[in-house]
Amino acid sequence: MTGVLLQTFKIHTPLKFTIQLSFHGLGRTMSGDLTGLRIPYKEKHEVFDFDHLASKDPYLQFKCWLDKALSTDGIKEPNAVALATATKNGFPSLRVVLIKEYSQKGGFLFFTNYESRKARELEENPHCSLLFFWPELMQQIRIEGTVSKLSEEESLRYFNTRPKPNQVGAIVSRQSQVVSSRQFLDEKYDALFNHYSAKSAVVPKPDYWGGYSVQPSVFEFWQGQSDRLHDRIVFRKPVKGETINPETTHLGENGWVFERLSP
Ligand SMILES: Cc1cc2nc3c(=O)[nH]c(=O)nc-3n(C[C@H](O)[C@H](O)[C@H](O)COP(=O)(O)O)c2cc1C
Repeated sequence: MTGVLLQTFKIHTPLKFTIQLSFHGLGRTMSGDLTGLRIPYKEKHEVFDFDHLASKDPYLQFKCWLDKALSTDGIKEPNAVALATATKNGFPSLRVVLIKEYSQKGGFLFFTNYESRKARELEENPHCSLLFFWPELMQQIRIEGTVSKLSEEESLRYFNTRPKPNQVGAIVSRQSQVVSSRQFLDEKYDALFNHYSAKSAVVPKPDYWGGYSVQPSVFEFWQGQSDRLHDRIVFRKPVKGETINPETTHLGENGWVFERLSP
């Protein structure tokens, strides 16, 4: 890159010495050139087309791809999913959570703190989106749906299966709130852990911790192709009274239709 400037910043620390940081940049901001970063995706003989669908029910198609991810070396947490929420005014936010269960009846379950930012946003706007991304398979699955809180019993049942340190952590963390220091958390944790240290001691689930179920209305199965003609197959519920165009829209199972989107 031509015309690159070396920028120098001096940071004065409370310990009376100065740290000097230098960046190569374009004068105004630090920059990084990632234009050459490119890896091969799938090739033409590996396309994902309608006749490759494991099922015309998106849950079973999801299961097929998840099972593959579960048995693929290098994918440590295939159940890690980006969860997008938004305020009622449409300001979005995103974070990773772990899906702990899924089924046609119950939807996709995750657990969290009911006072966290995500929970506050879901309270005022129950619409959300989930994104699984498995780069080793060059596949992503996008789900759109609405959430509902799990019952106290369902949340408790899962809480009781968690290791004790995780249970204590759930009590200690008033998730998404500002805290004074790491030490504040550690001290609170140590005190509580000691309190419940007996093997027989049961850690109570705090009432500000529990699960959500996401009921999907859309699933998109995406598979990346090196030439960028990626495969995108979407399942959705037809709108009431919708006239189905058989050229583009195909009848799935259990009330779903599916179609191909341009990459
Ligand atoms: C791999 C991974 C798994 C995570 N799993 C969860 C989870 O299951 N539940 C949860 O509340 N936070 C989980 N987190 C932390 C969240 O990403 C996030 O930091 C936290 O929930 C606070 O988000 P919020 O302030 O938007 O509510 C996970 C983070 C990562 C990277």
